[in-house]
Amino acid sequence: MKVALVTGAAGGLGAAVAARLAEDHAVLLTDVDADRVAAAAAKLVSSGATVAHTRCDVRDRESVRAAFTTAEERLGEVTALANVAGIGLFVPFPELTDEQWDRTFAVNTRGTFLSCQEFLRRRAGRPGAIVNVASIAARLGMDVLADYGPSKAAVIELTHAVARAGAVTGVRANAVMPGLIWTDMWRKTSEWLLESDPAYAGSTPEKIFAGFVDALVPMKRPQTTDDIAAIVSFLMSEQAVNITGQTIAVDGGVVMT
Ligand SMILES: NC(=O)c1ccc[n+]([C@@H]2O[C@H](COP(=O)([O-])OP(=O)(O)OC[C@H]3O[C@@H](n4cnc5c(N)ncnc54)[C@H](O)[C@@H]3O)[C@@H](O)[C@H]2O)c1
Repeated sequence: MKVALVTGAAGGLGAAVAARLAEDHAVLLTDVDADRVAAAAAKLVSSGATVAHTRCDVRDRESVRAAFTTAEERLGEVTALANVAGIGLFVPFPELTDEQWDRTFAVNTRGTFLSCQEFLRRRAGRPGAIVNVASIAARLGMDVLADYGPSKAAVIELTHAVARAGAVTGVRANAVMPGLIWTDMWRKTSEWLLESDPAYAGSTPEKIFAGFVDALVPMKRPQTTDDIAAIVSFLMSEQAVNITGQTIAVDGGVVMT
């Protein structure tokens, strides 16, 4: 059986990706939040999927290494990797601190690098598939995302490098750019805007999110975790055997390439 390792699998998108991949893979769910990833895995076990879970902090090479070893011991060699773990909050550009910049890059960019490198080393000459979750923020030049946007732009270029490194042996690497999905990430951002920006006084987090969807998305609809999980699953499949080094936006038309 094919084996997938998913990072950030306790989160809204990571859990959906794990659930979708579990349809045709054994899946190791990993996340820095041990309790929530255990709960996400338990939900899939109860639906009959072959899954295991472990805590993994993607910033830490030893933690990443240990997660791959856990997958091998419990499920088999990892043939597919979905890098979903990520952090991001709106911060006005003049207030962005060195610590915030470093933290965002450590999770989003270094974390993706460490997992991709571990995967390529372990595949050593055999095929496999990687999908890295970037963001439309990589292309929007938003001043409140001056750490997050560049960290995701770096993920896209890293994906190109990984695609080159793996091409001869059949390891494919692609990136997806989700648009706007109502997960904890957007809930926290909307709650923060409600508290900190008088322009939103009297609104609700849900209405603030809907306002961003209306302003940014040509199709005037939010994206869902299932939208993204479906494209990740496709990119992992045999149908995508000639697709590598690509970045696919699933965003209702925000970024047109
Ligand atoms: N929600 C959106 O609209 C949106 C849009 C574009 C891209 N994304 C990207 O999608 C991915 C998933 O985000 P989400 O919306 O599900 O948010 P989320 O906050 O629900 O999930 C993120 C998960 O990453 C985990 N995580 C954080 N730091 C980690 C670390 N050091 N090691 C391992 N795991 C860690 C968190 O515990 C959490 O479970 C992120 O990479 C995010 O940047 C989300």
